[in-house]
Amino acid sequence: MKVISIVGARPQFIKAAPVCAALRTQHEELLVHSGQHYDYNMSDVFFEQLGIPRPDFNLGVGSGTHGQQTAEMLVLLEELFTEQKPDVVLVYGDTNTTLAGGLAAAKLNIPVAHVEAGLRSFNRTMPEEVNRVLVDHLSDILLCPTRTAVANLEAEGIADGVVLVGDVMLDTARHFADVAEAAEAVERMGLEPGGYYLATVHRAGNSDSETNLRAIVEAFASADKPVIWAIHPRTAKNIGTFGLQTRLDSADNIQTVPPVSYVETVGLLRNAAALLTDSGGMQKEAYFFGVPCVTLREETEWTETVELGWNRLVGADTARILDAIGSLEKPEAHPDVYGDGHAAEAILAALNARYGARS
Ligand code: UD1
Repeated sequence: MKVISIVGARPQFIKAAPVCAALRTQHEELLVHSGQHYDYNMSDVFFEQLGIPRPDFNLGVGSGTHGQQTAEMLVLLEELFTEQKPDVVLVYGDTNTTLAGGLAAAKLNIPVAHVEAGLRSFNRTMPEEVNRVLVDHLSDILLCPTRTAVANLEAEGIADGVVLVGDVMLDTARHFADVAEAAEAVERMGLEPGGYYLATVHRAGNSDSETNLRAIVEAFASADKPVIWAIHPRTAKNIGTFGLQTRLDSADNIQTVPPVSYVETVGLLRNAAALLTDSGGMQKEAYFFGVPCVTLREETEWTETVELGWNRLVGADTARILDAIGSLEKPEAHPDVYGDGHAAEAILAALNARYGARS
């Protein structure tokens, strides 16, 4: 079987690593990088560290408005699919790259396989929610990470092609958890294990809103421990635009660093007292490593983390963020709600079952 897999943004590289490895044991895979993320520390470093094969095609799309970015990918992917004639197109998650890949394939009647299908925040103002709903509705096989995801699809009338495979991010996390470089990041930055918070902010609802970003900076500045803030380029830009740099510089406990590699992130996360984030994937990674999470949003796709008491949703509200930081909990129960760390193999098996094990 000939599979074209499409990636383009940081979280997709992390998800693709184990899936590419599994697919290539039996099938021909072509990897396409849309170019949505293009900085060295947003893209190349992930390919190097995670051992992801070099992309066969890079569309070099880069930054733009949602319409520009998606439309440009759509045109280029349509050409590529027409030329390459894949049996299946595999897309990941919920970015503009996912939508363009899914839509281009579906219009050419090429089956779409969606990894991380069925997630819902039920907040349609998030671009990611629009992307994932659309892609789920045009996918032929929906590879779900959780039971909640399966139930979400069922509620929307999607049952055919739905397979519970577990979470591929757990495969990657288990694989890289103990590499030496992970622990070294903590040491190199002069941090005490358990003595700091790790923070990331990049969700448009926070990083593009002056009110939200200001409230988050205020909370971090008043936290009782050092805050290591790995700053996404979009957030860095807006800190300047909103005039928040001076406040940030005056807060002795905040240490900002450029986006960090996967392995360093794992090291920093595992040793943190808590994760403060609006990322989707990182809420879950915190759970994998038994680290409490404070989520700077009002809703989450990873509801299990909240129900189990490992994650608190506090929005971009200074007082609520500080309250959550002041009452962190590590519940005793920590069930395997994200599968067994073998989701990539389950994905391979699901694809073989649906499309035949032809190589
Ligand atoms: C995207 C995804 C989001 C995902 C996130 C991971 C969409 C709609 N959103 O958001 O779901 O969680 O990636 O990081 O697809 N930029 C750089 N260098 C880069 C990449 C981006 O400077 O390598 C800057 C550009 O100014 C760009 C901005 O960051 O305009 C936003 O990048 P974009 O990929 O559009 O969205 P993200 O915010 O990264």
